[in-house]
Amino acid sequence: MKPKRRMNSYCLLLAETVVRAIRKPARLAAAMGLIVAIGATGSLAGPGWAQTLPQYANDVHLGVASCAGSTCHGAVTPWRGSTVLQNEYVTWQSKDPHAKAYAVLLNEDSRRIARNLGLPNAHEAKICLDCHANNVPANLRSKTFQISDGVSCEACHGGAVRWLGVHISGAANHAQNVAAGMYPTEDPVARAKLCMSCHVGTKDKFVTHKIMGAGHPRMPFELDTFTVTQPAHFRIDADYQQRKRVADPVQTWAVGQAVAVQMTLEGLADPNRNRQGIFPELVFFDCHACHHPMSNLRWEPRASTGLGPGVVRLADGNMIMLRIIAGQIDPALGERLLQQSRALHAATAQGMDAVATAASAMRGIVDPLVTRLAQTRFDGKAMGELLRAVIREGLGREYTDYAAAEQATMAIAAILNAMKRGGHIDEAQYKRYDAVLDKAYKAVERDEAFKPKDFIAALDALDQVVLKN
Ligand code: HEC
Ligand code: HEC
Ligand code: HEC
Ligand code: HEC
Repeated sequence: MKPKRRMNSYCLLLAETVVRAIRKPARLAAAMGLIVAIGATGSLAGPGWAQTLPQYANDVHLGVASCAGSTCHGAVTPWRGSTVLQNEYVTWQSKDPHAKAYAVLLNEDSRRIARNLGLPNAHEAKICLDCHANNVPANLRSKTFQISDGVSCEACHGGAVRWLGVHISGAANHAQNVAAGMYPTEDPVARAKLCMSCHVGTKDKFVTHKIMGAGHPRMPFELDTFTVTQPAHFRIDADYQQRKRVADPVQTWAVGQAVAVQMTLEGLADPNRNRQGIFPELVFFDCHACHHPMSNLRWEPRASTGLGPGVVRLADGNMIMLRIIAGQIDPALGERLLQQSRALHAATAQGMDAVATAASAMRGIVDPLVTRLAQTRFDGKAMGELLRAVIREGLGREYTDYAAAEQATMAIAAILNAMKRGGHIDEAQYKRYDAVLDKAYKAVERDEAFKPKDFIAALDALDQVVLKN
């Protein structure tokens, strides 16, 4: 399957690219355009930290039917003059994979996974429902609630029982809705925690290597890209910017990387999750360190791991991205993060207790960084420097592992789109970049066929365009 590049004219969404990885399409896409407040810092750290995820809050969930009325969110086309599109339901139902997340549990792939795990079936197993549906406790399900709705509106927006009334009457503003149990999906930290609770995993729900071994697909994630490819059922216009805080695509990407690292470190420090008997939990490690043909010799030293050949490496794509981002806002911080990552990699040679200790130590840097990035706006110059840094890191041969190359490709696409949207590069410059970016997409098209040298050649070509622009 060739990587598809679709132009998506939906609202402000622009270039969107789809790359099919071996088991599932990993959609690499670009970011939506917003007005970038250069140098400004918003108070975006906001409610993100403290917020309870919709699944674990105490509000009753009413089900998709209560959102889907044609005068509410079930219109066939966006309404003119409305503050929101009102066709959110149709977008979700017809284009959003979350609407089919429960149905997936009834298909042959899921039956096989369930069989291999010794489960009676997948569609009634808590472990599967927790991520493939809005699996709230029975006492929080109204009569109209249906588990078969899959990852429904309320799975992301929160149980509607308290906010629906005032929300329909139009009497409440967004802050009041949030106070009444609506989840603040516009806040980048809160959004990252929400999406990654299913796309990365938490102490309460987690795809182990055992589940992967039973046939579950790999789960790559990048917050900005996935927000666009979901696809978005919202439009960021002047009205939206008045009602809600807006994080630009680069900030969304950066916060997403920081939260992904934070959640990974949390897992690595958790004795219930970081091991399987005498072995470490392999899901934290680079899949392709083990899963690639022996004839495809590609190992080479990588400065940021400090590891020798023949060693299983932690999956560190997000850590590499975060280190680049940290290095841009504060070089000393980038350096500290590098030292901590090396210590974490080194700990894998000693055992999971040592890894847990190193992971906890690293959180001392990463936790404050999440808050800091939620308040950091990147202007055009900073975006250009980030772009160069992501490319340079690759030329320094840091992306020889597939997952890192995949993250770098999504990063470059997000930054370029943010630069275009913010008017920091013009249409012609963007086109020049975009044409070369195709080579990078090609190189990550299939994880099993990944050849680092092709990816590095693509980055080299991108570097040439940067120098000329
Ligand atoms: C921690 C959350 C989580 C858990 C637990 C989980 N899944 Fe998934 N599953 C996902 C996510 C996220 C994806 C989408 C991955 C992607 O393509 O990016 C997915 C994808 C899948 C797919 C591929 C879907 C498709 O469209 O082809 C199948 C099949 C599947 N899961 C079955 C299961 C079964 C069966 C269980 C229970 C044993 C389970 N999952 C448990 C999060 C989870
Ligand atoms: C996978 C998570 C997810 C699901 C499922 C989901 N949404 Fe959203 N929704 C978001 C995100 C993220 C945003 C953008 C951030 C924001 O505005 O809060 C959003 C924004 C919105 C907005 C705000 C638009 C605006 O201009 O303020 C509405 C309305 C909305 N969604 C309705 C729905 C409805 C109705 C459904 C179900 C049919 C649904 N959503 C399902 C994540 C989700
Ligand atoms: C309750 C769990 C849950 C939450 C929360 C969640 N997702 Fe998902 N997501 C899934 C599952 C399960 C799938 C796979 C569905 C399928 O393939 O049918 C999925 C699939 C996707 C896909 C398609 C991936 C692919 O490879 O095709 C995108 C994009 C996505 N999610 C984005 C998001 C974003 C953005 C958020 C946060 C705003 C989010 N998700 C929140 C469970 C969740
Ligand atoms: C330390 C090495 C190692 C790492 C890292 C690793 N695996 Fe595995 N994986 C194995 C072994 C060993 C098996 C069992 C192979 C067998 O039974 O033939 C396996 C089995 C599997 C299978 C089932 C293959 C089959 O033949 O049915 C899948 C799918 C899988 N792993 C996916 C993953 C994913 C996805 C990741 C990364 C998140 C990952 N693995 C990380 C070693 C690893």
